[in-house]
Amino acid sequence: CWQKRAHPRSKSPMSNELSALAPAKINLTLHITGQRDDGYHLLDSLVVFADIGDRISAAPADELTLNVTGPFAGGIPTDDSNLMLRAAKLLLPDHGAALTLEKHLPPASGIGGGSSDAAATLRLLSDLWDVAMPKDVLALGADMPVCMTPCAQRMSGIGELLSKVPALPACDIVLVNPRVEVSTPAIFKSLQERNNPPMPAKLPAWANVQDFAEWLGTQRNDMQTTAEVLQPAITDVLVALQATDTLFSRMSGSGATCFALFPPDGRAAKNAQKALQAAHPEWWVAEGSLLS
Ligand code: C5P
Repeated sequence: CWQKRAHPRSKSPMSNELSALAPAKINLTLHITGQRDDGYHLLDSLVVFADIGDRISAAPADELTLNVTGPFAGGIPTDDSNLMLRAAKLLLPDHGAALTLEKHLPPASGIGGGSSDAAATLRLLSDLWDVAMPKDVLALGADMPVCMTPCAQRMSGIGELLSKVPALPACDIVLVNPRVEVSTPAIFKSLQERNNPPMPAKLPAWANVQDFAEWLGTQRNDMQTTAEVLQPAITDVLVALQATDTLFSRMSGSGATCFALFPPDGRAAKNAQKALQAAHPEWWVAEGSLLS
């Protein structure tokens, strides 16, 4: 479902700089169905993306450099551990580009920021350098394969198995993070139960957003309870989201970001975003729409 047309890169005519959105990844469901011998967990997750995200750009340059700006720039490493730089080196070792990251998504927050940034970097650099995408991106992280194609997908295995899902109804979405960072390995380690049932083998054809929200309520995020115990601020967020006009709310990934879905009328999500931000100025609250 990924099409350049649907998710355009923009090109500056002056500088040949390419830029693109690195969209937030949201696990609408996240079932933990087992654990491999190497410790990695088997997942079954309905993953979507929103038009809320970081902004990545890439311009021709002799050296490979990364400049990080934006509200969440602090704490993002710019050394060799940075996933964007690792992705660039995986695509072509010893090749130059001036990369910038405008960091709008809170880091370590369950919405795939680092993986989405790295995937957007690969898309931009494959255009800039005119090289094919690397085959094996899983080595950069379990969320990388799904982020390479930022549209609704079912993700299983440890993140490497992707399949199509029935057309999702249009939805507006609010994302809330209480500004606490969550360590994904710590949540995985603390899980009480690792052998939970998967989603149904065949996902239903959802008639409308209400029908979709009702179905989501029959599914789970198997990390949510553990994350709420380790970070009680997540419960505060979920309580606040449930008090809005949302059709459905839940935690994404290993948290702490939670999402709430709204009808795509352009008003309900905006109203909820304003009310939540006014009541909790210390939280990160963003609103947008799901990418189709
Ligand atoms: O692959 P990624 O760097 O995102 O994963 C971070 C950590 O989360 C891994 O080192 C592993 O401990 C845990 N993890 C897991 N099962 C997965 C994905 C991640 O146990 N499917």
